[in-house]
Amino acid sequence: MLRSALLSAARSPALRSAAEHSALTRPVVDRFVAGNHIDAALAVAHTLVTDRLVSLDHLGEDTGDREQADAAVAAYRELLGRLGDEGLTDRVEVSVKLSALGQALPGDGPAIALDNAAAICAAAAAVGTTVTVDMEDHTTTDATLDAVRALRVDHPGTGAVLQAYLRRTEGDCAELAGPGSRVRLCKGAYDEPASVAFRNRADVDRSYRRCLRVLMAGPGYPMVATHDPDLITHATELAASLGRGPLDYELQMLYGVRPRAQRELAHAGQLRVYLPYGSAWFPYFMRRLGERPANLVVFLRSFTGRH
Ligand code: FDA
Repeated sequence: MLRSALLSAARSPALRSAAEHSALTRPVVDRFVAGNHIDAALAVAHTLVTDRLVSLDHLGEDTGDREQADAAVAAYRELLGRLGDEGLTDRVEVSVKLSALGQALPGDGPAIALDNAAAICAAAAAVGTTVTVDMEDHTTTDATLDAVRALRVDHPGTGAVLQAYLRRTEGDCAELAGPGSRVRLCKGAYDEPASVAFRNRADVDRSYRRCLRVLMAGPGYPMVATHDPDLITHATELAASLGRGPLDYELQMLYGVRPRAQRELAHAGQLRVYLPYGSAWFPYFMRRLGERPANLVVFLRSFTGRH
């Protein structure tokens, strides 16, 4: 219930504007977001790469006009240029949301988003890194997977994301588990109906294990995106039992979540941190609140200025 309310609030333009313009929220938001500007994000990335890999995300989603989509592409071009200049591309890639690139624009939105994503993939390839295409709500799954398939023609290293809470995902894993295929498996962060998604935690976890087995048993490169200690233990044991070495898969976590565990796990294998930055942080941040209600109390206190 609370999670649904938070995810619905994430789509409120009024709340979004109030929160994104309030200086009071900044300290709480900074736990999950590496600042509004590229310089702040790169400073954090430089620190993280001493023991972890990174996927940088320029925040933005549900773009309503072409100019905004073009601005997102420009932001990624600038980011990739800086990653190249600062020698970070062997340890840092980028994550993008197709809705930030125009996927939901009326008419030819999916084609616009694909062109924009292709431009970002080309800019990434030019500096020697890769792109992973985030997965959004279930109404976009087919279009997003179609886009990933199209991007992989020229850029086979393009990563896909699959969400274990969707009933369809075990099948998608089987389809995507081809040679070298980079697939990030997460539980899923949106409020989805029971017709398409498991709503019960235990069912999501069981689905995650089934999906993981398909990815780990295949010839692709699984990216295990979860903070769940049981699933992480399961993933490392499964990988070892299937003969995968530490470089044949990676664990992934979000910036600000279980940082001590991140450092410990990075010593044993590869761990990538998803590192978002930018001023459009509200929907991303609300999803983080939805995952852990304790975060909400801290946020509300900051919003009202009461600590
Ligand atoms: P779960 O929610 O069960 O959490 C397990 C434990 O982790 C909790 O008990 C708590 O200790 C800790 N934890 C989890 N979330 C926390 C939080 N916000 N604050 C504090 N502690 C927290 N989703 C999506 O739909 N599309 C996408 O493209 C992506 N991309 C993505 C990339 C990466 C690298 C990660 C790690 C996650 C995503 N996600 C995502 C989000 C994902 O779907 C999911 O919502 C979160 O990872 C939380 O699920 P867990 O697997 O961590 O389990």
